[in-house]
Amino acid sequence: MKKVIITGASSGIGEAIAEEYAKKGYSLGLIARRLDRLKVIKRRLNDLGVTVAIRSLDVANDQEILPTMESIAEELGGADIIIANAGITAINRTGKDNFEVNRNVIQINMISAMATVDAAARIFRANKTQGQIVGVSSVSAYRGIPGSAAYSGSKAGFSNYLDAVRMELSNKGISVTAVHPGFVKTELSDNMEKYPFVITADKAAKAIIAGITKKEANIIVPKMPWSALSKLMQVMPDKLVAKMF
Ligand SMILES: NC(=O)c1ccc[n+]([C@@H]2O[C@H](COP(=O)([O-])OP(=O)(O)OC[C@H]3O[C@@H](n4cnc5c(N)ncnc54)[C@H](OP(=O)(O)O)[C@@H]3O)[C@@H](O)[C@H]2O)c1
Repeated sequence: MKKVIITGASSGIGEAIAEEYAKKGYSLGLIARRLDRLKVIKRRLNDLGVTVAIRSLDVANDQEILPTMESIAEELGGADIIIANAGITAINRTGKDNFEVNRNVIQINMISAMATVDAAARIFRANKTQGQIVGVSSVSAYRGIPGSAAYSGSKAGFSNYLDAVRMELSNKGISVTAVHPGFVKTELSDNMEKYPFVITADKAAKAIIAGITKKEANIIVPKMPWSALSKLMQVMPDKLVAKMF
């Protein structure tokens, strides 16, 4: 049975993806800071009859990502799919709020996410596995969201990085998928309901897994309306974008 390792698996989209893969019988490696949450999830998924390995890791310590991934892959007996999902957001107004918040957003969403992808590629290359690497970005990669400039920048950077990595690894048989969610009701942000076209994490997870199974280069969830909107957003007047978000 296939083995999937997910960062940011203690809540939201990562937890929902873990649950969906568990229903399919996949073995799971779950990583996040909150070990108490991971233990509860492990017990629940073990009840579905699947193997679950957990590790507590703050991905801000990016040099710890590779050894943690290697140890979890060893416990599972390998890895087929590695999902760089851990992420944070922040409302931070440019020239007004604390700039250090931006540094943290870039560290977690871009540097640590890149370190996760790099670790995944190292594991697949070393084991000569034709694995799949998945990075969770955002529709904000297509157009900056006012008030979340660093977040949008981190996701645009991560998407562009994944695009290049996909081409780099294609001749190694390693596939790379970038996931671009619209708005999903999770703990990422309070009052998610106020944003347009919000879906549940379960619905997002099902669509994401369908795209991963087809080895799609880019997944936009929910497809309707974000496939069209992500293109439209790039040419929308600033005022309309500001109103949307
Ligand atoms: N929800 C949305 O509308 C939306 C839209 C577009 C993209 N996304 C992206 O989807 C991904 C998942 O977010 P979510 O919406 O599911 O939010 P969430 O419920 O807050 O989940 C975020 C996950 O990331 C983990 N995480 C955060 N900082 C971490 C750190 N320093 N070290 C290790 N793990 C860390 C959290 O675990 P711990 O706190 O236990 O460490 C948690 O498991 C993120 O990359 C986010 O940017 C979400």
